[in-house]
Amino acid sequence: MTPASQPAQQVDAVAVIDGLRLPLAQAALPLTDDGVARGDGAFETIGVWGGRPFRLPDHLERLGRSLEAIGLPRPDAARLGGEIDLALEGLGSRDAALRLFVIASGTRVVTVSAQPVRAALRHLAPQPAPWIRPPAEYPAAGAKTMSYGPNMAATRRAQRDGADDALLLSSAGHVCEGPTFCVLWVRDGRLCTPAVELGIVDSISRRSLLQAAAELGRDVEEGHWQLEDLEGATEFIACSSVRPVKAVRRVGAWRFDGPTPTADALAAALEAWRRGRR
Ligand SMILES: Cc1ncc(COP(=O)(O)O)c(C=O)c1O
Repeated sequence: MTPASQPAQQVDAVAVIDGLRLPLAQAALPLTDDGVARGDGAFETIGVWGGRPFRLPDHLERLGRSLEAIGLPRPDAARLGGEIDLALEGLGSRDAALRLFVIASGTRVVTVSAQPVRAALRHLAPQPAPWIRPPAEYPAAGAKTMSYGPNMAATRRAQRDGADDALLLSSAGHVCEGPTFCVLWVRDGRLCTPAVELGIVDSISRRSLLQAAAELGRDVEEGHWQLEDLEGATEFIACSSVRPVKAVRRVGAWRFDGPTPTADALAAALEAWRRGRR
């Protein structure tokens, strides 16, 4: 069985709310909390592989940047770090998803639960995402805020069109990202991915894949591309912190039916890195 097809491991789901640990099923926020009432806060989802959160310092740094982008203070690092350790206690060497929420109300929530079991990601339908714009124009662009409604609506629209999920396009027509994942593709032997300066999430998986590809001796390029620029691409890849590398087979009218040597090599490299075998 390949690592990517292993069944989800049994994990006792827990939450730590402002330092208090309890089973996730019993954790609750007041309906009036800013996070519930307005989605006013920022969050992170971190893959835990063999009991180890992958690139946690990078996630914490991005959480701080998301909060600053929406005018909220960074959390006390030592306190949040202690809450993360408390949430991970007893996990052993299992895989899990670690989630951090820092809310405008001041509430901090850390959860540990099984990694989500996701539907296939073989077919993406392009969808407009006018909220993705250069951060110089819209500072909250690319921030992982708790207001993910527009992203989820794009997923629903794509699924209504018969796809598995959406590929988000900016108003200028640039290929950006998925609603919950980064995208990359292979064209003329080069690994291409949208530039962060477009206003997309600065995906940690994307960073890892660019680094892994460079270490494998591949050319990588970050840029601004339209859908038409996918012409001639041979592979299309999606990934996130709690997903393995996925080879996407169709994006709008474009098909990627051939072999996927780059996706396969990157999947193996990322899996090894996540499991500390790098
Ligand atoms: C909009 C968006 N883009 C990309 C990603 C992938 O980011 P990461 O690789 O850091 O999980 C996510 C993850 O949730 C996301 O929500």
